[in-house]
Amino acid sequence: MRMFDIIAHKRDGRALTDEEIDYFVEGYVNGDIPDYQASALCMAIYLRGMDPREVAHLTMAMAASGDMLDLSDLPGITVDKHSTGGVGDKTTLVIAPIVASCGVTMAKMSGRGLGHTGGTLDKLESIPGLSVTLGSHRFKEVVRECGCAVVGQSGNLVPADKKLYALRDVTATIGSVPLIASSVMSKKIAAGPQCILLDVKCGSGAFMKDEQSALELAEAMVSIGERAGRKTVALISDMDRPLGMHVGNALEVMEACDVLKGKAAEDVTEVCIELAANLLHMAGKGSLPACRELAREQIANGRAFAQLERMVAAQGGDAACLSDYARFPQPEVSREVFATQSGWVGSMDTEQVGVASLMLGAGREKIEDAIDPSAGIVLACKTGDRVEPGTLLATLYSSSEERLDQGERVLRGAYHIADEQPPAVPHFLARVSASGVEHMA
Ligand code: URA
Repeated sequence: MRMFDIIAHKRDGRALTDEEIDYFVEGYVNGDIPDYQASALCMAIYLRGMDPREVAHLTMAMAASGDMLDLSDLPGITVDKHSTGGVGDKTTLVIAPIVASCGVTMAKMSGRGLGHTGGTLDKLESIPGLSVTLGSHRFKEVVRECGCAVVGQSGNLVPADKKLYALRDVTATIGSVPLIASSVMSKKIAAGPQCILLDVKCGSGAFMKDEQSALELAEAMVSIGERAGRKTVALISDMDRPLGMHVGNALEVMEACDVLKGKAAEDVTEVCIELAANLLHMAGKGSLPACRELAREQIANGRAFAQLERMVAAQGGDAACLSDYARFPQPEVSREVFATQSGWVGSMDTEQVGVASLMLGAGREKIEDAIDPSAGIVLACKTGDRVEPGTLLATLYSSSEERLDQGERVLRGAYHIADEQPPAVPHFLARVSASGVEHMA
């Protein structure tokens, strides 16, 4: 077999055989296939696409390129949730303790933020003392004790994706549904859960800007998960506005705690309930409406919050933070940003809200940049709210006046003030499962 022929087959629009896909993945990971041939194949896939059998096979070959976690010795049904990335998305910190408090196990490997989107590991690390590098033995111990744990990806999980993602990043081949779907699903499958819930974000703050492309990605990922023998569901959720009111690391942990205490904004609370309910439903805890009720009860009776306290303490963190927010790292400076005209917040460029938070110090532009756990934004107004000159739009937190200036400039540009109130938008647009697409809007 020759890599030259594999590239030519895909260039000419042919489906690759399982053997050709295996040859490529193995050869690229062990260094026999050079970057220039791998990038030519990625571009051919970008332009020609792949059928469901090819994408599923590529995913499984990538998943098998490194460690495959075995969670079968953990109690209960094991579930995982993946979000395609957004602004203000702190849902993992809420739904892991909710489902754990119902006896469903979530042994989760999360990522760091890059660019305008935040990452769960950075959020968790804003809790003093908390470690996200537990080692596989301690990771499982924490999961057994608490029903959930959240750690960073182990070193040798899907090396094929590490190499391919870096290559795609510099060869204009990131935005391809088969390549994104295989990249995401290879990591989920290698992490070992029985059920996978995908939260595919759609809108100005998301990777997928419109519903059609979000649906295409969701259907591709559900098809891969089901072919791999994992129960898989995808929800398409709105990311045309930030989720909740807090953007930033410590700030998002505080808002996650507020959700678990029943006192957070309606949007973030409802999104967390729906995600948790879908996980509970997949794990056999009842019908979707019954699971929504169950998730609400675990918040109301305090069990989910207690579960988060246990998990944080078991990972070495100061659990007292979760009730006394003054124990989190504190920002050096803050600034209130006020509206200058009257009207309605007609829309928000959510990606720019994420960029403003990054400029305040909450994110990183390069993987090695340090982040400021205390930096970020507390929004006072979002899309649909009425504003007058002097209405508080947001409060910014950072380490210097210069950063506040940069953050304020970008955040102001993210608000579009209109003469009329925009129509309300549902939190979820569609649910994709093995039985097909159910439109929710
Ligand atoms: N996230 C991933 O993990 N992979 C992609 O290709 C895109 C987003």
